[in-house]
Amino acid sequence: MDKTQTAIPLHPPHQAPLTGSNGGAARNALRERFADRLVVRHDLNRRLVSYQANKAQPGLRWFKYKEGFSADLVRDALRLGGGPVLDPFAGLGTTVLVASGARHRATGIEIMPVGAKAAQAISFAANCTNLDPIKDTADGLLRALNGGEAEPAFRFPHVPITDRAFPPQTEDDIAKARAFLHRLEDKSTRAILDVACMSVLEEVSYTRKDGQYLRWDHRCGRTLRGGMNKGAIPSFPEALKRRIGEIVQDAPLLARCYGGRAPQIIEGSALKELPRLANNSVGLTITSPPYANRYDYTRTYALELAWLGYDRAAFGQLRQSLISATVENRSKEQLLDQECRRPKVLAQARTAVASQAALNEVLDILRTRQAELSNPHVIRLVANYFSEMAVVIAELARVTRPGGLVVMVNDNVQYHGEEVPVDLILSDIAEACGFVCEEIGALPRGKGNASQQMGRFGRRELRKCVYRWRKPEKPQHA
Ligand SMILES: C[S@@+](CC[C@H](N)C(=O)[O-])C[C@H]1O[C@@H](n2cnc3c(N)ncnc32)[C@H](O)[C@@H]1O
Repeated sequence: MDKTQTAIPLHPPHQAPLTGSNGGAARNALRERFADRLVVRHDLNRRLVSYQANKAQPGLRWFKYKEGFSADLVRDALRLGGGPVLDPFAGLGTTVLVASGARHRATGIEIMPVGAKAAQAISFAANCTNLDPIKDTADGLLRALNGGEAEPAFRFPHVPITDRAFPPQTEDDIAKARAFLHRLEDKSTRAILDVACMSVLEEVSYTRKDGQYLRWDHRCGRTLRGGMNKGAIPSFPEALKRRIGEIVQDAPLLARCYGGRAPQIIEGSALKELPRLANNSVGLTITSPPYANRYDYTRTYALELAWLGYDRAAFGQLRQSLISATVENRSKEQLLDQECRRPKVLAQARTAVASQAALNEVLDILRTRQAELSNPHVIRLVANYFSEMAVVIAELARVTRPGGLVVMVNDNVQYHGEEVPVDLILSDIAEACGFVCEEIGALPRGKGNASQQMGRFGRRELRKCVYRWRKPEKPQHA
């Protein structure tokens, strides 16, 4: 333990006790097993593990991907080991862009086209030798918004959850922008300007992203129960002009920050894409999976997905392909069996989950109290989350070279007053798959549980942690 760390007490004061007929014995035992590696890291803070710090970062500030972590966190993690670098949940591409800037070979996998396309656009701009033609085309786009008629064929392709998101004038402006982009031939220019337009949709709409859902402004014309007041909403040309200004301002810095070796950005599911990577081909994984917290990316990024042409069926399909984190996600077990390329890895993951006593303890308690749960599908959510994450971890164990490292950011969660120690359970699964957990570093301040839960079940601070798992040089034998 160094100066930046302190130990976490085994039984924190003022914390609601664990429940269940056995008093949470399996979770307590797991905590004891990791006690020497579970530390508070005073060098970590919320800014570092969230998108906040990226608001000042060239390129990364173009698209507010609220689920992202900071470029500084990645820079710190890069000091721990050598590449090639991987992020199987790449989001906006923070890991792969920063790693590319540090001259590492980097691969990112991201299922949300919103993140993958934004990452690709930043990478195009960082590796483009002459940005002048892009600036000229951007000026052309802004001019096109000033005149002419909106063509009906290019109207925003709404889905029911985005209907009435924009004022009528904004609908017209968006149609003009879509027509302009449609006629662009240069792939990189179109990718960058497409992301520029997509990035202002929330700002110019009657909506605001709010974790699980979109919140709606009372002026939208929908029937609402208590809509919010978003305040002044800029026009599409105003917001776009500001964004293009940022892109032009950032252009000279991009090559220095992220240029060099363009990262490989794969738009797809980690569950399908990881099995395609070669054994021992990765030196350092820096990642943050979805948290098991019911947040639904397909709802919060509904405007952006509709912009990209997702219809209702495509929304449903994407939601089911994300790592299970919502009550709507159904099991992927059958699919994993059907599409399995690596039966040994799948079997290893399943064994690790089946024998995870703390997870089984939580699931048993939730099943016993099923009738009291606000939504009984949280049981399925918790079970599926760990089954799928176990497959990802077993794959990471296979693709990581001996001596290589995984750095993972994640939050613990709680359902019906039952703490789910995601950090300990995933670290235990990682050890079952061949990693050694070196550290579970918690932020000095955890997250409070939701106020309704606190009222009913007492206070529990939920840890937000950065885990560090190493693949030993030589396989360890039990
Ligand atoms: C916490 S975010 C990671 C953000 C990223 N660290 C960044 O800085 O932008 C988790 C990401 O995992 C993605 N994701 C969810 N299910 C996935 C899957 N099956 N395969 C690949 N990515 C997935 C989500 O779309 C989301 O972008």
